[in-house]
Amino acid sequence: ERAGRCVVAVDGPSGSGKSTVSRRLAVGLGARYLDTGAMYRAITWAVLRSGIDLADAGSVAKVAGEVDLRIGTDPKGYGVTADGVTVDAEIRGPEVTGAVSAVAAVPAVRVLLVTRQREIIADAGRIVVEGRDIGSVVAPDADLKVYLTASEAARAARRSAEDATDVATTAADLARRDRLDSTRKAHPLAQAADAVVLDTTELGIDEVVARLRDLLTDRGVA
Ligand code: DC
Repeated sequence: ERAGRCVVAVDGPSGSGKSTVSRRLAVGLGARYLDTGAMYRAITWAVLRSGIDLADAGSVAKVAGEVDLRIGTDPKGYGVTADGVTVDAEIRGPEVTGAVSAVAAVPAVRVLLVTRQREIIADAGRIVVEGRDIGSVVAPDADLKVYLTASEAARAARRSAEDATDVATTAADLARRDRLDSTRKAHPLAQAADAVVLDTTELGIDEVVARLRDLLTDRGVA
C-alpha cells in the first residue's frame, strides 16, 4: 500500500539529537518509530552474555543469527527483548556501549539487521527510522532523509547529561565510537547525497522537528 506511506530516515553521530527529534517527529506524524541502534545494542548484549571473543567475527555473526530479537515501534515507549529477556536498561550500560561498535562492524550482523529493519519499515508504512546507514543503505527510497550533526562539545554535553557520566569520559568515548562507526568498511556512518543536513548545535529540538514537518509538507507526504 503506497498511499499514506511515509518513511523518514534520520542519520547522524551520537549526541546529534537523533533520538529525541525522531521520536517527537513520529509522535507528531502519528507514525511508528524504529531505533536501529537499539537493535545493534541488543545483539551486542547477547554477544557479551555468550562470552565469545568480540574479535571473532564468525562467532559474533553466529550469536547474532541465533538470538531472538524483538523491538517495539511505539515512539512513546518501545521495549527491546533478546531471547525473551527485557534488555532496555542493559543495552544503555557501559559494557554494551563499549562493545557495540565492534559488533556493528561485522558485515553479517549488518546484513541480518538491515533485512529485519526493512521488514519492520514495510509493515509500518509510516515510520521514522534512526541510525547511521538508514538513508544510504536501509531505506534509500525514504520520503525524507535527514542528517543531523552538532559540534563535538554539544554532543558530549548532551550524552553525558543523558547517561549521568562526566563530560570528559563521554567525549573520549564519543570520539572513539565516531571514528569506528565512520571508518568501518560495511555501511559506515554516511550522509546520503540527497539528505537534508541540519546542525543542531544552536537549534532547539522543537525548531528541528518543525523544520522537518515543513519539509514533509513541502514534499506532500505528511
Ligand atoms: O545510536 P546508538 O548510539 O544507540 O547506536 C549504537 C551503535 O550502533 C553505534 O555505535 C553505531 C551502531 N549503529 C550502526 O552501526 N548502524 C545503525 N543503523 C545504528 C547504530
